[in-house]
Amino acid sequence: MKKTLLALLLTAPAFAQDIEGLIKQMTVEEKFGQIQQFSGFGFTTGPTAAAEGEKQKELIRQGKVGSILNSVGAKVTNELQKEAVEHSRLKIPILFGFDVIHGHRTTFPTPLGESASFDPKGCEETAAVAAKESAAQGIRWTFAPMVDIARDARWGRIVEGAGEDTYLGCQLAAARVKGFQRGGKYAACAKHWVAYGAAEAGRDYNTVDVSERSLREVYFPPFKSSVDAGVMTFMTSFNETAGIPSTANKFILTDVLRKEWGFQGFVVSDYESVDELKNHGLAADGAEAGLDSINAGLDMEMVSQHIAQNGPALLKAGKLKMATVDEAVRRVLTIKKRLGLWQNPYTDAGPEEATLHDPAHRALARSSAARSLVLLKNEKNVLPLQNPKNILVVGPLGNNQEDLLGPWHADGRKDEVVTLLKGLQNKYPNATVTYQQGCDFKGPVQRLDLQAADVVILAVGESEQMSGEAKSRSMIGLPGQQEALIKQVHESGKPYVVALFNGRPLTLGWVAENSPTILECWFPGSEAGNAVADVLSGDVNPGAKLPVTFPRTVGQCPIYYNHKNTGRPAYLRDSYVSTYQDVPNESQYPFGFGLSYTTFKIDGVSVAPDHTVTATVTNTGAKEGDEVVQLYLRDKVATVTRPVRELKGFQRVTLKPGQSQTLKFPLGNKELGFYNRDMKWVVEPGEFEVYVGNSSEAPKATSFFIR
Ligand code: NOJ
Repeated sequence: MKKTLLALLLTAPAFAQDIEGLIKQMTVEEKFGQIQQFSGFGFTTGPTAAAEGEKQKELIRQGKVGSILNSVGAKVTNELQKEAVEHSRLKIPILFGFDVIHGHRTTFPTPLGESASFDPKGCEETAAVAAKESAAQGIRWTFAPMVDIARDARWGRIVEGAGEDTYLGCQLAAARVKGFQRGGKYAACAKHWVAYGAAEAGRDYNTVDVSERSLREVYFPPFKSSVDAGVMTFMTSFNETAGIPSTANKFILTDVLRKEWGFQGFVVSDYESVDELKNHGLAADGAEAGLDSINAGLDMEMVSQHIAQNGPALLKAGKLKMATVDEAVRRVLTIKKRLGLWQNPYTDAGPEEATLHDPAHRALARSSAARSLVLLKNEKNVLPLQNPKNILVVGPLGNNQEDLLGPWHADGRKDEVVTLLKGLQNKYPNATVTYQQGCDFKGPVQRLDLQAADVVILAVGESEQMSGEAKSRSMIGLPGQQEALIKQVHESGKPYVVALFNGRPLTLGWVAENSPTILECWFPGSEAGNAVADVLSGDVNPGAKLPVTFPRTVGQCPIYYNHKNTGRPAYLRDSYVSTYQDVPNESQYPFGFGLSYTTFKIDGVSVAPDHTVTATVTNTGAKEGDEVVQLYLRDKVATVTRPVRELKGFQRVTLKPGQSQTLKFPLGNKELGFYNRDMKWVVEPGEFEVYVGNSSEAPKATSFFIR
């Protein structure tokens, strides 16, 4: 698109850098407009669409629209942008945002699934591709990554994050931020600030009440890691923490984020979370809601318009200072400038389709999905499949496209998804590969005709609608009659594989106890069928590990490996200790766990005087494969109680049969320290136990002392 004279003028360094000059020229209305985000402009339908569309454009021309979410496509975003950069008084470009969570048109595994790959570099690549595809559609800002730590599988949004562990969460947060923001022309958003994943009873949007220690040690670090990686924006969470909703919480928005961490970007509210301050009982009306949030440090309001609508009167009444408004405007304009929006406000529609259908993106979708599959059980070595002649695919996810995309699939199209049936047909062109559904997610089980099959692949789990925002579940077993379907196949005596597709850990009960072969596939995305077939066939050796604990029963939630010891740990004696009467404390599958078609030995652990831990991993089996070597630490005695162990390092390596590799895990203040009673970061003298292995149940290897 041709640059306007003004756009050219604005590229001149003096003007482009003069955000202060711009702020001075802005009217009060234009300032409030700049910190207001609207949703879905350009997409109104029905008889009033034309008039609505005109109204939206008029708002833009009046300089009242700083940002828009949910308007996607080069054509529509360019059209709206034109109103801003050619027909508004100050010609400030609009920033378009969208939930680009795990891919855009090309859909990668859901974030939790991808996190199982324990592969920060891989997560960075998929984020970079997602940014590229959505940028081709006019989007310059994603509301991702979600970096909320989630320890409760009932919470549906567990699917959107990196799981339960803070260390893994930090690595992946940084990788995803770097991926999205690669090249500096696209902004990421660390969300939801903060502790959204600690919702009581795992119910979405519910109250959170965690200590400042937990905030600082468990929930804050992935956000800090995002800041260190240069994240340009933050989003507040819907929840309150200890009585103060995040959207109006000065402690988190200003004291921690700005004063302690020096964050330079801007903070957007969540969808109408300013308005929801009224429901929280924190604000009597919209004016109070707007005032509380901007005064606490919020910069942009998503969808509700309390700051913009009440701001002028609040200024007049002296309740709101112009300096506070200017600061929010300054932060928003600074990010727009950093993104180069003045130089390039438009999106070239030419490459849109080619970018969305780039074969390299599909190849990445296939490999990232295959790298995220976790082999939970393979007792009878049904896997990898041995020259099958007749494969029967069964279950609600076997010939299903939409659900394999997973929730928040942006522009992902179900008709572009490779089903499991298709993936197996592609993999085994000379075999007979057929499908019988058997049951859906709710209804009764049909009798299957199993006679001809020499192996059955049961594709079971959740529909994509069962995990994600507002999708909490109080029972997290296999939905409907799917367990009965598995039992039917089990009783036939045919070899079979349970392929699980789900957004959260499930309580697998009978299946975990009795089914010999279980492969956790999560929601793998566009290339689902091909990726799963790659692993079933053995073309790809599974090497992923669980980024979350799988509980035995829902009553164990929240359950996580890095818990405290308590004064009455279960191992102490038989009774009056911290246990259940009806279920062991142990999980069904622990954090960090996952099998391979080969075997590994991890030994030779030593600690150097500078506390670098060294370990050697050897492929002791007959196939090339990946192992994730994990290092856990325990600070034995401290002035505040410490977890029984904490992940402090991991490395995913690929080894040929017989091959060894020696790995180093440096440990510094960051890994050895914690917040003491005065909330100061300290490394205290004493004994540290070292656990090295391939899950959070790794045995103790050695210990060292800090004196
Ligand atoms: C609400 C969700 O909580 C948030 O994660 C998302 O980015 C916004 N809606 C915008 O869609």
